[in-house]
Amino acid sequence: MVVKETELTEEVAGQLISLSEDWEKENCCHGYYKNTLDNLKGNRIFLALENGAVVGYLFGHKELTEKTTSIYEAGTSFFEIEELYVKPEFRGRGIGRMLFQYMETVVSPDVDMLMLGTASKNYRAILHFYIDELGMEFWSARLFKKIR
Ligand SMILES: CC(C)(COP(=O)(O)OP(=O)(O)OC[C@H]1O[C@@H](n2cnc3c(N)ncnc32)[C@H](O)[C@@H]1OP(=O)(O)O)[C@@H](O)C(=O)NCCC(=O)NCCS
Repeated sequence: MVVKETELTEEVAGQLISLSEDWEKENCCHGYYKNTLDNLKGNRIFLALENGAVVGYLFGHKELTEKTTSIYEAGTSFFEIEELYVKPEFRGRGIGRMLFQYMETVVSPDVDMLMLGTASKNYRAILHFYIDELGMEFWSARLFKKIR
């Protein structure tokens, strides 16, 4: 297994869009739609490769917080993790963790925080993954209950 950062070439864009089509079909995250090239532009992209084939990816970009909140001051630099995905048949082998930890090491000289939002339907597993395994902290959540 190799994890590396890559430029957004035409080939990489094709691979990421194809994986995101599979992700959309999996219907495991509320409101997830496959990417277009425009969604990928401006992001730092990390790939997990097995025998040269892309089996997972993470991408995101640097931002500065606008307003002071209970967890950061205005103007704090952070890396917004837009997407993290591992092909279903490769899950549970530590690839998601490797992608996250590689990204964390690479972006750490440049930003003060990592942030992400998640709409995974498997919310217990995703919170276990990010909080117990990767050391993230919980900030907030939006819940719903259909009553008619
Ligand atoms: C979340 C995801 C990237 C984790 O990748 P992975 O390679 O399986 O991660 P690891 O092997 O490093 O860690 C697996 C852990 O993640 C947890 N997990 C998180 N989300 C999960 C999911 N949707 N399905 C299965 N396990 C999941 C497992 O409980 C497992 O915990 P364990 O090690 O205690 O058994 C992968 O499940 C995935 O691509 N899910 C669909 C897309 C998604 O939800 N992305 C995150 C959006 S914020």
